Amino acid sequence: MKQLEDAVFHRDLTKNYPIITHGKGIYLYDECGKEYIDASSGAVAANLGHSNKKIAQAMFDQASKVGFVHTMRFETEVLHQLATKIVQLAPSTLNKVYFTSGGSEANESAIKLARQYHRDKGNKDKQIVIGRWQSYHGNTLGSLSVGGDVKRRKPYTANLIKTEHIYSPYCHQCPYEYEEEACIRQNNLACANDLARKITELGAENVSAVIMEPIVGSQQGAVVPPKGYFKRVREICDQNDIVLIIDEVMTGFGRTGTNFAIEQFGIEPDIMTFGKGISAGYAPLAGMIVNDKIVDGIIKNSAGQFVHGFTYSGHPVLAATGLAALEVYEEESVLENCQHVSKYVFECLEQLKEASKIISDVRGRGLLIGIELVKDKEKNILFDPKEQVANRVNTSAMDLGAVFYPGSGGIDGLYGEHLIVSPPLNITKKEIDKMVSILTEAIHLVEEELFKKE
Ligand SMILES: Cc1ncc(COP(=O)(O)O)c(C=O)c1O
Repeated sequence: MKQLEDAVFHRDLTKNYPIITHGKGIYLYDECGKEYIDASSGAVAANLGHSNKKIAQAMFDQASKVGFVHTMRFETEVLHQLATKIVQLAPSTLNKVYFTSGGSEANESAIKLARQYHRDKGNKDKQIVIGRWQSYHGNTLGSLSVGGDVKRRKPYTANLIKTEHIYSPYCHQCPYEYEEEACIRQNNLACANDLARKITELGAENVSAVIMEPIVGSQQGAVVPPKGYFKRVREICDQNDIVLIIDEVMTGFGRTGTNFAIEQFGIEPDIMTFGKGISAGYAPLAGMIVNDKIVDGIIKNSAGQFVHGFTYSGHPVLAATGLAALEVYEEESVLENCQHVSKYVFECLEQLKEASKIISDVRGRGLLIGIELVKDKEKNILFDPKEQVANRVNTSAMDLGAVFYPGSGGIDGLYGEHLIVSPPLNITKKEIDKMVSILTEAIHLVEEELFKKE
């Protein structure tokens, strides 16, 4: 028998992570009994908090009935029930659900489906996907390629597929260097018009799809696009016969105060990917919802065959988990709670911003909220990335008993520090007070450290 001290290939092999023994509601508990508020819902996934008995029971019941069937030969009733429920929540033209087990796989599937749709229609050159810098669509090579996370892409540059990028709109730190208020007042939309320019440069006959997060999550910290942005993007895609993929992996299922964030921008995508919130993090479940035009195209031009598939697509235990989670969202009016408490969290964080030396912006929707951290608010002087300020705030908060979601590189891949505040959607006002008080203390401690040094 091999004698190993620790057989886990950790995210960071030099680190020891606290061992969590159980969770309850918004709380996690480690083996020493320390309590943490899960103020980030893990990676913005555990939207219903921890140890939900209904979901646990549904997983047990389904595994007890049948734990696996291969969707090349069989399906289960629960899969149909879940797909129907998802379609009922989705925009009106999106009526078929393809299941995967992670968001990266969902985006890979969407990229391939767009390509097959065009190729089989006779547009053989429509191959290129346009993504955006400082956006994230996953860590598999295809999803990493369309994403714009410079740090994650860099070690694998040679392995990435050919994709193109424009900038994500980030009005507070505009990559096109427009002044935020004037630009919005003039309805400038240089960020959306850049897509048209990029398509002209590449030739529309070579572009298959455009992929975008409706609100940029982990890479920028809940950055909301300016008014009119998605209407213009939709228009450009339509004019050029380009499939619009909206990645709702982080934002879907109520996280931003509506079932899907894209509803807030008044357009319908051609393909919408989802993950995380669908199972509230209880199981690796994700997928894509596809519009009628593409489904009809696959039936007509590809004899109904999408050349793709995974062993765990449509897994019955995952489907039962998703179905139970959607029932809990509904029965416990979780979306309404998110809308209700969101305003309160924003008020608390705005107050914190006013009192803080380093918080320059509070943005987002629902309970996907980002706070931006800068060295000098007046002059917009950014922190040196080496200082790892967002990480330090989170470490300090963890010591005090709450975990947030820190990020860096939101401006150009290197600069730009932020923290995502994204607690479970069923959090109460009392719990919010506790979360905000820990965050206030953590910010204060890091500020003391930062400004003492100078
Ligand atoms: C917007 C977005 N898309 C895709 C992914 C990738 O999902 P997964 O980690 O489940 O593969 C993520 C994960 O954070 C995400 O936030």
